[in-house]
Amino acid sequence: MPDATQAPSFDPPGFALPGLTLGVASAATQIEGGDADTNWHRWADVPGRIADGTTPRRAADHWNRVEQDTALLGELGIGHYRMGLEWARIEPSPGHFDRTAINHYRDELTALRAAGITPLVTLHHFNNPGWFEAAGGWEARHALTVFDRYVDYVLVNLGDLVDEWITLNEPNVYATKGWVDGDWPPGVSGSIRRAQKVMQTMAAAHIRTYLTIHRAWPRAKVGVANHLRAFAPKRRWNPLDRVSARGAEYLFQTALTRAFSVGRFLAPFVQPPDIDPGHYYDFQGINYYTRSSVTGLADGVARRVPVNDLGWEIHPAGLVEVARWTHERYPGPIWITENGTPDAADAFRPLFLHDHLKAIAGSGLPIERFYHWCFTDNFEWAEGEEPRFGLVALDYPTQQRTVRESGRFYADIIANRGVTAAAYRRWVLGRHYPRNDA
Ligand code: FCB
Repeated sequence: MPDATQAPSFDPPGFALPGLTLGVASAATQIEGGDADTNWHRWADVPGRIADGTTPRRAADHWNRVEQDTALLGELGIGHYRMGLEWARIEPSPGHFDRTAINHYRDELTALRAAGITPLVTLHHFNNPGWFEAAGGWEARHALTVFDRYVDYVLVNLGDLVDEWITLNEPNVYATKGWVDGDWPPGVSGSIRRAQKVMQTMAAAHIRTYLTIHRAWPRAKVGVANHLRAFAPKRRWNPLDRVSARGAEYLFQTALTRAFSVGRFLAPFVQPPDIDPGHYYDFQGINYYTRSSVTGLADGVARRVPVNDLGWEIHPAGLVEVARWTHERYPGPIWITENGTPDAADAFRPLFLHDHLKAIAGSGLPIERFYHWCFTDNFEWAEGEEPRFGLVALDYPTQQRTVRESGRFYADIIANRGVTAAAYRRWVLGRHYPRNDA
């Protein structure tokens, strides 16, 4: 806790974070637990699809622990919380809405606000109702109007409690995992064409939702949580790798960011007849985790670099690189809507946090928010419960929550609005990243 009588010292190697507000992020399917009939529940029920055989049914049991988790946010001084809604709970069958479920979210939002915590609410985070998925999901002809109906219901019932919205989480990851890699639902492999179609539909869904929210709540802030990756040629000077890296970047994020931000759908997208070019974001939300090393059609991880528990490269400079890229094309406030790392031992997470925040501090970019992924450990999609992304450790069988040292560090950064020299010595000094050449 800071000493109120004395301003915190940011003498090097400390640094202040003026203008940056910190929070934590989560997603409904990853933390709530329970038996909602989602695409992920159905997917996880087929043996072999989730690395450790778990399902979203246990997760962090957040549905039953809202009070406890809200209190813990408060204890750590966290004033901004990104949370998701479970569409399948809200609309368990087509056009039928569940009052109990929506009231549960009303209660949660009310409790957060009463605790002085500002919610940022995600409408779609990889999670479809089972019935929507079975009817073709985002490839179905009526996907957009079905999604509109859900959005309308949410706005009427929660709109008075929410000022900040994320329409969609990472359409590029969702489409690539589901239609190219095939290891996420709906499990289609190798169809770049269908993945592009899904991204196009989701970009259109964002724009429609952006307009709908603003019609109802003109002062609301609305954006996408856009997964942006740093792309690098595997062989730095190899012309083929350089072209491949640009190509991968274009297909994965460049065209998509343009489509949802300003309504311009360049090839391979097709301009939807009912969408005019415009300005469709109040902030640019960025989820940043890693850098891809590209050669030919393959994208992977460079050798001899720092890596996390899942083998992803740790590359803090990439966060500012993608933020700058975004800002040059789509100026306006930037919110880092996710950044974090799997680190079960909590051995290098404090260093990771420090390095990413330090990169922001020196960037000169209008980065207003930073949401750490995640608050507590949770169900990490096809990887299951194994990867540990939380500032708070979760013992799954007992559901015991234990704040990690990185969580204490984060609370200290929030309280002091920066990394003090003392915090640096206590939490950062002497830590190292694992490397993939070790
Ligand atoms: C992002 C997802 C989030 C979480 C992190 C680790 O791609 O948006 O749900 O799984 O990765």
